[in-house]
Amino acid sequence: MGALRETIESIRKAAAGAFASATDAAGLESARAVYLGRKGRIRDLMNLLPQLPPEERPESGKLINELKQEVTRLFDERTAALAGQTKPRAAGEAFDVTLPGIQPRLGRIHPLTRAMREIVEVFSRIGFTAVYGPEAESVRNNFECLNMPLDHPSRDAFDTFFLKDRTDVVLRSHTSPVQIRAMEAARPPLRLVVPGRTYRPDTVDATHSFMFSQVEGLVVDARITMADLKYCLDQFAKGYFGSQVRTRFRPHYFPFTEPSAEMDVSCIFCGGQGCRICKKGWIEILGCGMVHPNVFRAVGYDPEKYTGFAFGMGVERICMLKHGVTDMRLFFENDLRFLEQF
Ligand code: PHE
Repeated sequence: MGALRETIESIRKAAAGAFASATDAAGLESARAVYLGRKGRIRDLMNLLPQLPPEERPESGKLINELKQEVTRLFDERTAALAGQTKPRAAGEAFDVTLPGIQPRLGRIHPLTRAMREIVEVFSRIGFTAVYGPEAESVRNNFECLNMPLDHPSRDAFDTFFLKDRTDVVLRSHTSPVQIRAMEAARPPLRLVVPGRTYRPDTVDATHSFMFSQVEGLVVDARITMADLKYCLDQFAKGYFGSQVRTRFRPHYFPFTEPSAEMDVSCIFCGGQGCRICKKGWIEILGCGMVHPNVFRAVGYDPEKYTGFAFGMGVERICMLKHGVTDMRLFFENDLRFLEQF
């Protein structure tokens, strides 16, 4: 028995030493085979049992089993240590403060929100203030005060969603009604931009959606002219797309402005030579015009005393142009692989 106890103790010490000096999984595995393996030293001891006198066998078996459990425990401990899963650190024990930490996952601003803020920011540099209004709007503000009486065909272009059981409230089809609210709440001079979400019953495709975002704007004062309109919007185009950009205005029709125009910018991809995206060198980005006298009358401004200009642009379209995005649906699908690029 004494000899067995000595052998057991020497195996335990040797195994502990071999595990401790193993520095990787492979080294630890070969140490394990030497002591715990099917042909290992503990197995060898077990195989000796039948040769012992019968009365010594139970006690010897028990001792060998305890050895096996102890060596297995040492092995497991070392395995965990090598895997970096050590037990909680004791107080005062050293640790490496230079190890990299765990990176928190940071959120970011949606590209449309960012574009909207950037547009507003460019206008704020030339004195515009942002104002906001409700998405569910009165028919009066969305149509009537904007020179679109009920029977006028121009309403078709701004058709929208009515709310259940209401004939006087719609989801606004542009943010122009906020300009009506602003004019009724204050007197000229006014210089404001209106960012917000708008609705039209458009079928969803790469360039249309039933919901989209706009930034519109309005300037009202004595002696505001088309020259002011052109200068301000040209400044905006240069501020948002870059100072190399040129602008041009083409006659157009809107019921709430007269005269009306659409503004194009020289193509930001080819510089204006003509390419796959712009076709002939120009890209349309917004509608604009001089405020129609009927709009002033509707809000109680004297059209003989005041003039003004207004404009409106679609944020999705402008954001797509700036970043070369070819499908508007990407903005609404919440796919992080897309959104994380901004
Ligand atoms: N409200 C127009 C639209 O939604 C844009 C616009 C605003 C055009 C002001 C001219 C003047 O399309």
